[in-house]
Amino acid sequence: MRDDIEQIILDEPTIAHRVDELASEITATYRGQRLMVLAVLNGSLFFAADLLRRIPIPLEFDVIKVRSYGDSTQSSGSLRYDFDHLPNPAGRHVLIVDDILDSGLTLRGISGRLLEQGTARSIRACVLLRKQRPRQMEVPIDFLGFEIEDRFVVGYGLDYAERYRNLPFIATLRIASLNEKKATGPLDTK
Ligand code: IMP
Ligand code: MG
Repeated sequence: MRDDIEQIILDEPTIAHRVDELASEITATYRGQRLMVLAVLNGSLFFAADLLRRIPIPLEFDVIKVRSYGDSTQSSGSLRYDFDHLPNPAGRHVLIVDDILDSGLTLRGISGRLLEQGTARSIRACVLLRKQRPRQMEVPIDFLGFEIEDRFVVGYGLDYAERYRNLPFIATLRIASLNEKKATGPLDTK
């Protein structure tokens, strides 16, 4: 698997340090408030797990599964909700946790739906990575881990065709690995 890596852009200690800082900011913001964390799966699984264990205040946790990407590195441009219903945010301060802001479609879709329900006391977003690229509409991020170049990255929850999520760092892939078709045989074990 590591043979497919082109360049590590954020290593484990760098990520851990920033996750600590984000957790402190979030704790200070929500202390004494009724907090509901909504993690966007699958990408934010590792980030949310690390982040929430560093937040020492009561919170409710739920997940929502949405995808705007197929097997490629290009956004399909449409959102697919795997859950019909969002958790009920009535009376809660909602914090959406996602892995990366690319086009912004995912976050806009989720916060739009929550806003339509109109019952949340507040809606904020925490995103580990934001790509430096133009967007049709700016999506406000309240807690941001890192701003990165507009390149396709994997690791720490981020995938390419559902692979590489288990890398402990964030990295770019070699072009050859990106050009491979979705794995049909056994995954390589290197
Ligand atoms: P958006 O809706 O275009 O902002 O895309 C957000 C989703 O696309 C993320 O939650 C990721 O699952 C996926 N995504 C966007 N950029 C990357 C990337 O560089 N690597 C892996 N997944 C990505
Ligand atoms: Mg993905």
